[in-house]
Amino acid sequence: MGGVVIPENNQEINNTNIMEKPAGPCVIVIFGASGDLTMRKLIPALYNLSAEKLLPDEFAVIGFARKKLTNEQFREQLSGDLCQFVSCELNSPELQGWIARRLYYVQGDYDDPSSYEKLKTLLFEIDQKHKTQGNRLFYLATPPNLFGTITKNLSQTELTKQDDQTWKRVIIEKPFGRDLESAQALNHELLTYLAESQIYRIDHYLGKETVQNILVFRFANGIFEPIWNRNYIDHIQITVSEELGVEHRASYYEEAGALRDMVSNHIMQLLSYLVMEPPYSFDAEAVRNEKVKVLHAIYPYSHEDVLSCTVRGQYGEGVLANGENVPGYRSEPNVNPKSNTETFVALKMMIDNWRWAGVPFYIRTGKRMTKRMTEIAIYFKKPSFTLFRETVVEDLETNVLVIRIQPNEGISLSFSAKKPKPTLDIGTVKMNFTYSDYFGNKKAAIGYEALLYDCMHGDATLFLRSDNVECAWSTLTTILDVWGTLPVRNFPNYASGSWGPKDSNKLLTKDGRAWRNSS
Ligand code: BG6
Repeated sequence: MGGVVIPENNQEINNTNIMEKPAGPCVIVIFGASGDLTMRKLIPALYNLSAEKLLPDEFAVIGFARKKLTNEQFREQLSGDLCQFVSCELNSPELQGWIARRLYYVQGDYDDPSSYEKLKTLLFEIDQKHKTQGNRLFYLATPPNLFGTITKNLSQTELTKQDDQTWKRVIIEKPFGRDLESAQALNHELLTYLAESQIYRIDHYLGKETVQNILVFRFANGIFEPIWNRNYIDHIQITVSEELGVEHRASYYEEAGALRDMVSNHIMQLLSYLVMEPPYSFDAEAVRNEKVKVLHAIYPYSHEDVLSCTVRGQYGEGVLANGENVPGYRSEPNVNPKSNTETFVALKMMIDNWRWAGVPFYIRTGKRMTKRMTEIAIYFKKPSFTLFRETVVEDLETNVLVIRIQPNEGISLSFSAKKPKPTLDIGTVKMNFTYSDYFGNKKAAIGYEALLYDCMHGDATLFLRSDNVECAWSTLTTILDVWGTLPVRNFPNYASGSWGPKDSNKLLTKDGRAWRNSS
């Protein structure tokens, strides 16, 4: 995690970085190489890694896709695209040349064994030319219905066969199924051809610096962990709001909806990092064991709980903060005009273990909300006794610790302070840390750097294990069942540009609480 820290404004920052070294020799094969992910994320992230000297010289990338392209055309296309996605400061012709010399392309069909033979031949040639020593990372940047076909063909061509000297790993990205049953089927299919230790399931939220920082914040500081429990914390709010609508992804989103798209994966990961017990080490299995334990401890919803503790919504037309009028979800391209897909979800969740019993977690996520904001707000309990008799207890704000994941990344803590005047008057003030103040904006990270680097090193800490995926789905099964059988009658129920349906406020007001709607 992280690189050399340049202190700004004379602040002392002590580095405790582990020495970073380039990954070992390997070839990355990207299936679905002509798609958006390769152009926007993967190649720019590799570029950033090479700028940080974290890629070895013995390295190459092969793009595999159906589209007809020569090596030269593939290189030209990616070099052109690269300029749009990497930060200008890092953009250098030498680095571009370094990557371009290592880019190759295979045109093939995903279900045609001869395409994999072609790939195999090229891999051997590259091993000779770039001394990549037979280590391969297969990145499946394809629709999930191809995961099984590709791994089967890779396995049958013996491209995933490991030995004492070489490694073979496969990265896949969500969706990992659309419910418990399909997630189990996918895991079963993958595990027919690969060992669990070869499968690296990406949740791109775990690639975000600020998400990784949750663990550092909790476990590299002595002062927070003692109060990180039901004795001191009143409740926790997690908000992942987006200003964007469904954009051009209706064919996927219509089948998914907000619960599957965001809660089953990203929000469950945020929650796990936030509430897990300290692992005995930062070894991948130790961390992943603790994450799974948390998911097991989520109090199961009964059918009645689904009615009282969940809210679903769909955006109607409205006005965004910049004054733009936008259409409702049902009028978006390729969306069924009678669609009942939810674009918003709010949940109250309880975690049934010693640390968290009785602490409600309020979670909400949605598209076309007031603004883009991912944050975790931890509300501490009020002091049990107030010395300040003249001050009405209810008027005292509670301490709130806010972890801002994006944008304006940082952490703030609000607390009470005496206003400077002769009489006793108490107000709320804030201590605020922002990443940009301390670390500058120089490292415009794509968010995939750490994920790719860790996978090349064989460090699976930031990746999801099969039991984690299944456990997350199993938590949501009752909600999916009840929602599936009870048709929605009031969609659309929130205006674009708002904080979501009114019912989501009721979820908290009936408990005497309110969402933190930052302005
Ligand atoms: C994706 C979802 O996984 O995450 C999208 O499919 C969503 O619907 C996106 O917009 C949000 O990611 P980020 O990094 O922009 O918060």
